[in-house]
Amino acid sequence: MIQANGTHERLIATYRKKAKHYDVTSRFYPAPGYPQRAQRLRAVQALGLRAGDRVIDIACGTGLNFPLIEEAIGPGGRIVGVDLTDAMLARAQEKVDAHGWSNVILVQSDAVAYDFPAGVNGIMSTYAMTQVPECAEVIAHGAAALAAGGRWAVLDLKVPDKTPGFISQFGTASVRPFASIDQWVTRRPWDVIRDAMQEELTDPSWTELFFGTAFLATGIRDSGDAG
Ligand SMILES: C[S@@+](CC[C@H](N)C(=O)[O-])C[C@H]1O[C@@H](n2cnc3c(N)ncnc32)[C@H](O)[C@@H]1O
Repeated sequence: MIQANGTHERLIATYRKKAKHYDVTSRFYPAPGYPQRAQRLRAVQALGLRAGDRVIDIACGTGLNFPLIEEAIGPGGRIVGVDLTDAMLARAQEKVDAHGWSNVILVQSDAVAYDFPAGVNGIMSTYAMTQVPECAEVIAHGAAALAAGGRWAVLDLKVPDKTPGFISQFGTASVRPFASIDQWVTRRPWDVIRDAMQEELTDPSWTELFFGTAFLATGIRDSGDAG
């Protein structure tokens, strides 16, 4: 069941419109020539996946990360793609069918309401978590579900610290449908994500990408052996 509030309705309506052409238009996201694929690859590599691993892709959209994850986990692994928007998941399902991946499950859910299965090896989210107001909760829920040694990786856009506001706004305005860009800039959700990763996981790492316009935050679930 998806909780429907005003924010969700707007967000779902926006992504329903985007879904059909998302795989093409997102190549220009957030700007033409942006190294999005390289950033995705980096996020998947940060999970340190092995054959047979179980991975959750939160706010998976049309499943653009799936080919990279599949390559790492192989047919014996498992992907669960979670997203709020039915139309984005429908595109993801088409991708799954076209590739013949039998190890992918798609779940329509708000990220914060999603009941993470216990013992997963990796959780990732790309270009989405700063849109989720309860991102700290999502990180906490995921961290609790990771197997010992499992990893979380969050990749998303941010505002570069030393860039004039109007340039940042230009770059990100097209991708923030749920609230005004001013709110996003003021709220600084990337700081919330960094703090939550530090709070919930061991060995947290924070890397700014492409002149500070994106970040990759990662962390590992403690084995719990330290006593
Ligand atoms: C910019 S797209 C990114 C999709 C995909 N992760 C990618 O890298 O291409 C943002 C996605 O986040 C999803 N989303 C936004 N808020 C969400 C929430 N609270 N719970 C689950 N999905 C959400 C949207 O439906 C959309 O598919």
